[in-house]
Amino acid sequence: METAPLIDPFARPITYLRVSVTDRCDFRCTYCMAEHMQFLPKRDLLTLEELDRLCSGFIGLGVKKLRITGGEPLVRKNILSFFRAMSRHLDSGALTELTLTTNGSQLARFASELAACGVKRVNVSLDTLVPEKFAEITRWGRLAQVLEGIDAATAAGLKVKINTVALKGFNEDELIPLTRWCADQGHDLTFIEVMPMGEMGEENRLDQYWPLSDVRARLGESYALTDLPDSTGGPARYIRLNETGQRIGFITPLTHNFCESCNRVRVTCTGELFMCLGQEDKADLRAPLRASTEDDGLITAIRAAIARKPKGHDFDYSRQRVAGQMSRHMSHTGG
Ligand code: GTP
Ligand code: 5AD
Ligand code: SF4
Repeated sequence: METAPLIDPFARPITYLRVSVTDRCDFRCTYCMAEHMQFLPKRDLLTLEELDRLCSGFIGLGVKKLRITGGEPLVRKNILSFFRAMSRHLDSGALTELTLTTNGSQLARFASELAACGVKRVNVSLDTLVPEKFAEITRWGRLAQVLEGIDAATAAGLKVKINTVALKGFNEDELIPLTRWCADQGHDLTFIEVMPMGEMGEENRLDQYWPLSDVRARLGESYALTDLPDSTGGPARYIRLNETGQRIGFITPLTHNFCESCNRVRVTCTGELFMCLGQEDKADLRAPLRASTEDDGLITAIRAAIARKPKGHDFDYSRQRVAGQMSRHMSHTGG
């Protein structure tokens, strides 16, 4: 079979695949899900075998970094067997990184086995260190459980990166405490600008939006900052805080559009391929997966989709209104 790498219409090589293995989650973070979500029936989900074929197909086409997402990936039944299966691509050298983004709730159970599968780093979402605020933003979560999970990950030798969505009026007052806590614990920390995903009910993204240019300026009042050239293959740009030596990342879809260097696509748990997080266009990969045990149809569908990957998102909060909003919830594509 032809194995030319995946290059999109803007000459961007696609080497990073984010795969959502479930739409379910044990939390209901307000910016990610509605409180009452209708989950998909099981028959619509790709089986673990289908997920394996799909990921292996992409890896055959040059994907080097595989990130497992959800919903919460660790609530998918038998998920460890999928990680175990994917680790063969690390062993062969085809994949350079196998990793996941998690809410941390199940890490105490899974961290050491994930490490045994060749996972080296995990990204854990954590927006506050105050238990009551944590319960408020996650609706259903318990901070202590996540902190135990993070400790288990560290004990298992996994490097932890904390993802914090910067939310005006919610965690502004925790910028320094969160930064200090990460320094003490030895975790990387990345801030994310809140994106207009999901229908917006009681909360308004524009009211919540805290531009990371402000976050950076605020950090600059307490620390000396050095820009770093580091890249993990994700969208974050990094700085170092000279006093603590720690690394801080910024994911800035609003204040600094990084689409020009986009190297990634996403697959949902039903096999929809989204070529961009911030656009509606998608391709169905489940039909070709189920139509044949051979992968030719799958590969053809992947190539056809990449050939129409858009230039970028249209998220925009300028002029005091929200533009480029997606009705899809973030949990649908795993961020
Ligand atoms: P690293 O490997 O640690 O660099 O991971 P990452 O930043 O690629 O992944 P992570 O799952 O930690 O993503 C953090 C946030 O960045 C999530 O909110 C994602 O939605 C957002 N993000 C990741 N990729 C993109 C992208 O292509 N476009 C936009 N707009 N946001 C993205
Ligand atoms: N805007 C920005 N980040 C979001 N995440 C979820 N929803 C949003 C949103 N609307 C983040 C989560 C997690 C990552 C996968 O996406 O906090 O860290
Ligand atoms: Fe890539 Fe779309 Fe994200 Fe831009 S918004 S970086 S094009 S996925």
